Amino acid sequence: MKILVVGGGGREHAVIKAIKKNKEVKEIYACPGNGGIASDATCVDIKATDIEGIVNFAVEKGIDYAIVTPDDPLCLGCVDALNGKGIPCFGPEKKAAIIEGSKAFSKDLMKKYGIPTAQYEVFTDREKALEYLKGCSMPIVIKADGLALGKGVIIANTMVEAIDAVNSMMESKIFGESGSRVVIEEFLTGPEISVLSFTDGKTVIPMVSSMDHKRARDNDEGLNTGGMGTVAPNPYYTEDVADECMRKIFIPTIQAMNKEGRTFKGCLYFGLMLTPNGPKVIEYNCRFGDPETQVVLPLLESDLLTIMKATTEGNLLETEVNFSSGSACCVIMASDGYPSNYKKGYEIDIPQELTDSVYVAGAVIKEGKLLTSGGRVLGVTATADTLKEAIDKAYSKVEKISFKNAYYRKDIGKRALLKTEA
Ligand code: AMP
Ligand code: GLY
Repeated sequence: MKILVVGGGGREHAVIKAIKKNKEVKEIYACPGNGGIASDATCVDIKATDIEGIVNFAVEKGIDYAIVTPDDPLCLGCVDALNGKGIPCFGPEKKAAIIEGSKAFSKDLMKKYGIPTAQYEVFTDREKALEYLKGCSMPIVIKADGLALGKGVIIANTMVEAIDAVNSMMESKIFGESGSRVVIEEFLTGPEISVLSFTDGKTVIPMVSSMDHKRARDNDEGLNTGGMGTVAPNPYYTEDVADECMRKIFIPTIQAMNKEGRTFKGCLYFGLMLTPNGPKVIEYNCRFGDPETQVVLPLLESDLLTIMKATTEGNLLETEVNFSSGSACCVIMASDGYPSNYKKGYEIDIPQELTDSVYVAGAVIKEGKLLTSGGRVLGVTATADTLKEAIDKAYSKVEKISFKNAYYRKDIGKRALLKTEA
């Protein structure tokens, strides 16, 4: 089989390493891939958002199955366009990807179908948004409606910050057009849990739960990033919490999307907060999380490609989806300065025996050398029987990988470990 993977980050590298295990897979192409992915797939210089370019390439190469993992091509209708040429895909159609593409859509969906989430109002008029703020208690959360690369959320601790957030989104357009419409929502508290799930629109199978570490610095300080590390499973996701999520969130969401005529197939990501009033949805993503995928897939014991095809074909119920009972930890090695300014172009040294544990996110090959090219450079994953062992193993691998200007958090999994020991 010839497979095309759309995207070029650590998440895509993890997906590619997992599907390579399937013996039917003969060729894997990545659009655009990256310097590290090039060791596992043929990288093609077509941007993930160049839908026409991707479709033309897929037709020309005779691709048998495509896997679309980033949010922007999904929201731009990449799956619809490939399906239109008879190429089956893993991932939702555009009309279902809106569950991530528009926060106003997902909030309205949850309200309509009684799915637990933070109280909120949606505004397209700045004056009305500012008027509404006057009656709100702080902190308050202000979100730009559309995709803003995970940056469109501002948590305002004071009224001055809240007014500033509304003005900067709706007037100064700091997040571009996605700020034309904003969601103002109640501030929730509690541990966050990421649950990725496979769904064919009828059955929903949650994967092993995970915990992201979004802030740049240790002790959850510093700026928000795409994610500086993950552990799985998430110790806050007990069996009782999982049961409640299945009944109140996962099944109702799949059913709601069906009722809206927007059947979701692919990976639906539930970003949850375990509040004092039970689990609530913070966000939906229409795709695998990054770097959640880098801990979830290494724990998958069943065949990923078979499961993906089952979501497309609608026979997920009859498909084996098993995860190991062990733990995993992924530490992101970034360029110091990320997510603000950072230098790049430094050579990366990865010992041969560690290549299977490394998922490359931001690197290019120049004159035969692997050089840093992004903020998040690579993720290093270890699995073990216990969380403590997985964390220790991941950090011992990190110490053997080097590039100039490397920065990583030293406390990935620390909070999870405290919970398991409590
Ligand atoms: P989002 O892009 O919606 O996932 O938001 C990014 C991050 O902001 C989340 O991972 C949370 O840490 C935080 N956040 C978002 N919404 C809320 C909320 N209603 N209450 C508290 N924190 C929130
Ligand atoms: N790690 C968070 C996300 O993928 O959105």
